[in-house]
Amino acid sequence: MRTQVGIVGAGPAGLFLSLLLQRAGIDCVVLESRSREYVENRVRAGVLEQGTVDLMDELGVAERLRHEGMPDPRLDIRFNGNIIHIDLPILTPGRIVTVYGQQEVVKDLIAARLQRGGEILFEAEATALSGLDTSKPTIHFKRAGKDETIECDIVAGCDGFHGVCRPAIPDSVLTVYDREFPFGWLGILSQSKPFPEMSYANHERGFALASRRSPRLSRLYVQCTPDDDVANWPDARIWDELHVRLDDMDRTELEEGRILQKAITPCRSFVSAPMQCGRLYLAGDASHIVPPTGAKGLNLPVADIRVLSRALIEFVRSGATAGLDRYSDVFLKRF
Ligand code: APR
Repeated sequence: MRTQVGIVGAGPAGLFLSLLLQRAGIDCVVLESRSREYVENRVRAGVLEQGTVDLMDELGVAERLRHEGMPDPRLDIRFNGNIIHIDLPILTPGRIVTVYGQQEVVKDLIAARLQRGGEILFEAEATALSGLDTSKPTIHFKRAGKDETIECDIVAGCDGFHGVCRPAIPDSVLTVYDREFPFGWLGILSQSKPFPEMSYANHERGFALASRRSPRLSRLYVQCTPDDDVANWPDARIWDELHVRLDDMDRTELEEGRILQKAITPCRSFVSAPMQCGRLYLAGDASHIVPPTGAKGLNLPVADIRVLSRALIEFVRSGATAGLDRYSDVFLKRF
């Protein structure tokens, strides 16, 4: 097989890139190790910054987002028995956040890519990259037990934190900035009416956050130790801690519900530089992850893709490499 841009990974980074390139008439193939059903139902981030919403609009994939997304113009900080209201329309007019699950974004992007005649190879796992320092890099992958290859002009490594693209860059080239924070977040998804506003709570027992994923789905977090075990957190303990830390002692504000998902995420910041090596360009979690504290989730990959897609289009159309050469530096300035 052969394509202009070989994209490894059908997460937000790979899918947004594929649609931007497709719109520019550039041929690309997306390889995804998991099934379509799996990636469309993987619940992860869910807070979209205005730039991400604008890009979905621009790409003509915001139809469902407009109906089902929940604009979140306000957030609260609970501190010492007080509530500080943060009103985004006053502070940043025209730029609010919208709650819409990453799995819904992924569904919309996959549907658009396929409807527009683009290709996504599901259950096709990239196993290695070769020829990165040549003009014809190759992705080696396994599909239905068979080894196959795609020869490309450029490889976009959008295969997340545990993918194969970042490790394809020699250690001598990469500098890694890694910080593990001395705490983790125990996160739950609960079938219950969300708290009225997204609320960050500071409490002597630890931090808590009440957010949402839909009108009947709450996303709630309590700070714990990074090596804690979910087995130590029966449902009743989680609800007790949430009521206390969110200052809802009379249990009137936070509705309890059936817990659908429970997991502990150690809080970690990881950035590898540069984001490019020869004809390989990394984007999204493949290059950097940040703790969930800032709700940057899928917004950082989208920001990468905006810069990378412009540079790739310029390169494919005119052979100019100025944008690609600057890609890593432009993006890494943000960190
Ligand atoms: N071959 C093919 N696909 C792969 C491989 C591989 N070897 N390794 C990983 N993948 C796929 C994963 O299955 C996943 O679908 O690459 C995709 C990477 O997607 P994400 O992990 O979602 O990464 P990204 O697109 O950068 O988006 C980051 O996801 O982790 C959340 O909070 C994070 O919201 C952020 C977003």
